[in-house]
Amino acid sequence: MTATPAAPPTTTDDVVLEAENLTKHFPVRRGLRDLFTKERKAVHAVDDIQLTLRRGRVTALVGESGSGKSTVARLMAQLYKRTDGDIRLHGDLITVNGGRAFRAYCRRVQMIFQDPFASLNPVHTVRYHLTRALKIHGRAGNGSADLEQNLNALLLRVQLTPPERYLDKFPHELSGGQRQRVSIARALGANPEVLLADEPVSMLDVSIRLGVLNLLRDLKERLDLAILYITHDIASARYFADETLVMYAGRMVEGGDSETVTQNPAHPYTRLLIESAPDPDRLDRVGDAKDAPEDEAGGEPPSLIAPPTGCRFHPRCVHAMPKCSTDLPPRFELPLVDSGQAHWAACWLYEEGAAK
Ligand SMILES: Nc1ncnc2c1ncn2[C@@H]1O[C@H](COP(=O)(O)OP(=O)(O)OP(=O)(O)O)[C@@H](O)[C@H]1O
Ligand SMILES: [Mg+2]
Repeated sequence: MTATPAAPPTTTDDVVLEAENLTKHFPVRRGLRDLFTKERKAVHAVDDIQLTLRRGRVTALVGESGSGKSTVARLMAQLYKRTDGDIRLHGDLITVNGGRAFRAYCRRVQMIFQDPFASLNPVHTVRYHLTRALKIHGRAGNGSADLEQNLNALLLRVQLTPPERYLDKFPHELSGGQRQRVSIARALGANPEVLLADEPVSMLDVSIRLGVLNLLRDLKERLDLAILYITHDIASARYFADETLVMYAGRMVEGGDSETVTQNPAHPYTRLLIESAPDPDRLDRVGDAKDAPEDEAGGEPPSLIAPPTGCRFHPRCVHAMPKCSTDLPPRFELPLVDSGQAHWAACWLYEEGAAK
């Protein structure tokens, strides 16, 4: 895999969708014992997230299982009500609770899910799924000839050619990669500006992942889409995304251009993520003490019902200082590497004067 070429500099005009202080707490159902206390427990799934999606750019959201990535995507898609925070589409504050406003929002912001088999109805053909999407979003055209042309165009756009070979197939007659392409075509039926892709390739065979990622990149470039790419796999973020954000236990811990975050990770958690990914080059260096520190951290993600105070990573962090368990670290800007794009980490190690 080669790294993505540096993306052109962005301006504020490119911003399509933004989240500010996005927070989601899921209330925990109260047990019998809790009836006698006033305490209301909640899962702190997402806390105080800032996210900006820009036209023609892919932003990767990386983190281990349970870190809150899907919750962020669902909040951005307005599928969940947020506990706090704002979502802006082209600068306008948006809150929708179903109905016509939700449909209008979906026209511009579409989501792609991890499991294409579950997201397509097994009793309906590709033609049915795509026709429905085009009709819901008023893009079916006039008459059957128009509709046929639009269906063909959607399948060509996701490189399912010739379209007539796929139109009357049922989901079970397609391969995993073809099914995911149909899901992407259905999302494109709305002619959206934003795609929220929640682990779009993690259920696919390794051999076809790259093909689907390349398709998404092609769509980003041709249709100028803003894409949120959610993944466990930080190596694929380097390959595919312009910008990478790292999440741990409901909070963002590091962000910057993908090349810098993956090649010069600053936050101890990002380093742990990278070290945990299989990398043949590193096998030669096993036993090299200098490479070990973050690996020794071990441990498990914390409970999100009572998350650790201060930095949520501190119980697992080999660099933890007394302050880390009491004070929440703000974002510290880091020295710019070649790309000239901001790189930050929410870690007390980067406070001026802190011992690194
Ligand atoms: N509907 C819900 N009700 C209660 N808790 C939830 C709900 N959805 C998610 N959670 C909790 O919120 C936290 C974040 O979940 P989320 O699915 O966003 O993580 P994720 O990063 O997408 O994980 P994965 O990589 O496994 O998909 C988890 O602790 C999860 O148990
Ligand atoms: Mg998820």
